Amino acid sequence: MAKFDFSKRDGFGSKFGVIAAAAGSAIGLGNIWRFPYVVGENGGGAFLLVYLFFVISIGIPVMMSEFVIGRSAQRNPVGSFKKLAPGKPWYLVGLMGVGAAFMILAFYTVVAGWTLEYLYQSVFNGFHGKSPEQIGNMFDNFRGSFRPIIWFLIFMVFTAGIVMAGIKNGIEKFTKILMPVLFLILIIISVRSLTLPGAGEGMKFLFKPDFSKITPKVILEALGQAFFSLSIGMGTLITYGSYISKKQNLTSTAFNVTMADTIIAIIAGIAIFPAVFAFGIPPASEEGLVFITLPVIFEQMPGGYFFSLLFFVLLSVAALTSTISVLEVIVAYMSEELNITRKQATILGTVTVAVLGAFASNSSAVFSVLNFTSATVLLPLGGLLIVVFIGWFYNKRKVEAELTNEGEFNSWFFKPFILLVKYLAPIAIAAVFLYGLGIF
Ligand code: PHE
Repeated sequence: MAKFDFSKRDGFGSKFGVIAAAAGSAIGLGNIWRFPYVVGENGGGAFLLVYLFFVISIGIPVMMSEFVIGRSAQRNPVGSFKKLAPGKPWYLVGLMGVGAAFMILAFYTVVAGWTLEYLYQSVFNGFHGKSPEQIGNMFDNFRGSFRPIIWFLIFMVFTAGIVMAGIKNGIEKFTKILMPVLFLILIIISVRSLTLPGAGEGMKFLFKPDFSKITPKVILEALGQAFFSLSIGMGTLITYGSYISKKQNLTSTAFNVTMADTIIAIIAGIAIFPAVFAFGIPPASEEGLVFITLPVIFEQMPGGYFFSLLFFVLLSVAALTSTISVLEVIVAYMSEELNITRKQATILGTVTVAVLGAFASNSSAVFSVLNFTSATVLLPLGGLLIVVFIGWFYNKRKVEAELTNEGEFNSWFFKPFILLVKYLAPIAIAAVFLYGLGIF
């Protein structure tokens, strides 16, 4: 079979396109579905503080490191490490990322499928006139039925179709317009949620830290959520970084993406928790939290039918721009390293994920194992190795060249960045790991 022709590699077309695609990867179910329920399970405000600390001190350096690796190597995660560290075992970090991509895609697409069901229910006004309790039962009944797997497969096909079309035509076009609209509608939902009687309790839960709630597990979950939400630690942003043109500023791209992702997560929290407390929904309702709370809010809103519809359309799109980025890791790896075509790689990757996802869809135990292992274990571990690579092994002058576009401008953040990747980030990740997993 013909070798991959690297001179014909695709790439992002515009500056806004890059930020939109990377933000599209970061913003998704991680912010709107996962963030509220892990906040709910881990005690609220104190978790949020730890989370924000990790986003800034670890998230930004890991994201920048991935961009640096991808853009200097112009390869998929495995190929990038092979190129930057020939003959060394660093490519295994890339391979671990590809493994994590399979796992994430399998359970994430299941949840994306749930959003399609909720979109369908919104179209047919399926939540109308139901009490919060009945809406809760609807979620449980739905999960126990055969429907999730159908929606999962439909979503997988959408993802595969767009990835097959490639970077400029498939991924970039899509994300540019829809992310800002999602932002607006979240604000509208927050306003409704905040004006419900009893909303104040929810705001207290989210923003008033109770430090007695902080345990090793809470800290570990906060770290995992930061990695998951920012799409870092598995080479998604090495892959996207490899499509970024040499003219773009990697530091500001990383800052913008991180900021957008964090703001969306916090607004999702403000949309959810006031309503959770106003309606007496248990904050630790696990994966069901958002799927129960949101329809309840829409039921209480003038124009709820319209907002519900619009919201679930946008949530599905936000999920799609994330699943695309995860599948792209697999496809870039297979098509560049295994010498198969993009189309064959997409089909092979999709079928494998479909098999794994079928298990995740039917068994909540499989779902939880994939969710925990990928987000809380593999991503931070990958992130640790990525910062150690940049901080201790890769040539500093090359890192500086990448962050200043060959000296075209000064980067005030270069020095702090090196300190972060050399010391703070690796030590913090390692400490949280050992502490959180009960090793010391
Ligand atoms: N960050 C995405 C979200 O929040 C999920 C994701 C994780 C995407 C890891 C890519 C890699 O929805």
